[in-house]
Amino acid sequence: MSSNKKLILVLGATGAQGIAVIDKLLAPSEDGLPSPYVVRALTRDPHGKRAVELSEKGVECVKGSLDDIPSIISALRGVHGAWINVDGFTVGEEKETYLGIRIFELAKEVGTVKHFVWSSLDYGYKKSGYNPKYQCGHYDAKGRVADWMKSQTSLSHGMTWTVVTTGPYIEMLGIHMFGPLGQRKDGTLVFATPVGEGHVPMIALRDLGFFARYTFDHREAVSGKELEVASDIVGWDYLVSTFQKVTGQKAIAHYQTFEEWFNNFDNVDLPLAHDLDKGVKVEGVTTWRTNFTAWWSLWRDDIITRDMNWIRKVNPRGYTLEKWMRENNYTGNLRIDLLKNGEDGKGVRINRKVVSEL
Ligand SMILES: NC(=O)c1ccc[n+]([C@@H]2O[C@H](COP(=O)([O-])OP(=O)(O)OC[C@H]3O[C@@H](n4cnc5c(N)ncnc54)[C@H](OP(=O)(O)O)[C@@H]3O)[C@@H](O)[C@H]2O)c1
Ligand SMILES: *[C@@H]1O[C@H](CO)[C@@H](O)[C@H](O)[C@H]1NC(C)=O
Ligand SMILES: *[C@@H]1O[C@H](CO)[C@@H](O)[C@H](O)[C@H]1NC(C)=O
Repeated sequence: MSSNKKLILVLGATGAQGIAVIDKLLAPSEDGLPSPYVVRALTRDPHGKRAVELSEKGVECVKGSLDDIPSIISALRGVHGAWINVDGFTVGEEKETYLGIRIFELAKEVGTVKHFVWSSLDYGYKKSGYNPKYQCGHYDAKGRVADWMKSQTSLSHGMTWTVVTTGPYIEMLGIHMFGPLGQRKDGTLVFATPVGEGHVPMIALRDLGFFARYTFDHREAVSGKELEVASDIVGWDYLVSTFQKVTGQKAIAHYQTFEEWFNNFDNVDLPLAHDLDKGVKVEGVTTWRTNFTAWWSLWRDDIITRDMNWIRKVNPRGYTLEKWMRENNYTGNLRIDLLKNGEDGKGVRINRKVVSEL
């Protein structure tokens, strides 16, 4: 039945990103024809809730882990393409850098993979001229792998590669990162942020899925290229005025220092990488606070930019902030089921007492 369809392996398939990518890969083509793709998902638990939901959509879920290289080799066998999103929040910067390069090599070694797609993030440290202020481990690991890939040939008669550099999900407006942390007695929602005058090129997960599909649909055209994608460039005055326009609700942008913003959370001094997080403070290990200080600095100082003309040309029906808020009936409510890591109880906790005084 599906024998003439192209099989795509997705790593990080049960994540917020993976699900969005898979939904677009399986969707009918723009001309209404059935999708030319079928999907294989690698997961540590094929019986987990999200994996079962993927199976119900016809996805082949195979058991494997970033800690088990043979399972990755097996998963690569027989696929046409691969969408590789390595979870830096689980494995940490050093391991992610190694794994990215290693998985590319393995795809070459297997020999039958036609299109290797690396889901990347901006190499902020390099883009800032190697300024340590902007050294953000979970960005640089992906960017470093992308840079290394550029030294590898991309062969249309062999394996082509493409880097798709995404950015913060606009859906993080529904969690602590971008959503309103507090609400005052008169109902005013408080969008607290350390972004200052800067901007975040956010991406709606559906647009991320669009660009993933676009990449596999245009293998020759995107061979050996990096696509830097986004949906809208968001500063916090624009965020709040759009929110008020869409919802009619009272809201303010509350500009905080890094120190003040991190103080809204409880466990920001634990290791960033969950594999290293034993629930205690460890000296010399990157913490959530150190890396997200660098992360916010990248936006605050507008180190990372996007070519919105090119983006709108390729994806004319893509989201703006306003369109996303309207389509999702956004009210500023926070949810926990966006990121799988969040749903699994990993990540930072809001300090209710502190935010009640915002
Ligand atoms: N949050 C954002 O705005 C954003 C934006 C762009 C890129 N990213 C990047 O995306 C990555 C996280 O993906 P996500 O946003 O989809 O988060 P998520 O919803 O928390 O999903 C995490 C995914 O990683 C998989 N995973 C974790 N550890 C694994 C391991 N040891 N072996 C195999 N798979 C493992 C999980 O699969 P199982 O649990 O099923 O094994 C799950 O699919 C991070 O590298 C992050 O930097 C995040
Ligand atoms: C972020 O983490 C990296 C290691 O992952 C570390 O080298 C760097 O100094 C941290 N960034 C900041 C600004 O502290
Ligand atoms: C938003 O609300 C409209 C009208 O009530 C509804 O049709 C739509 O499904 C909602 N969208 C989402 C994403 O909940």
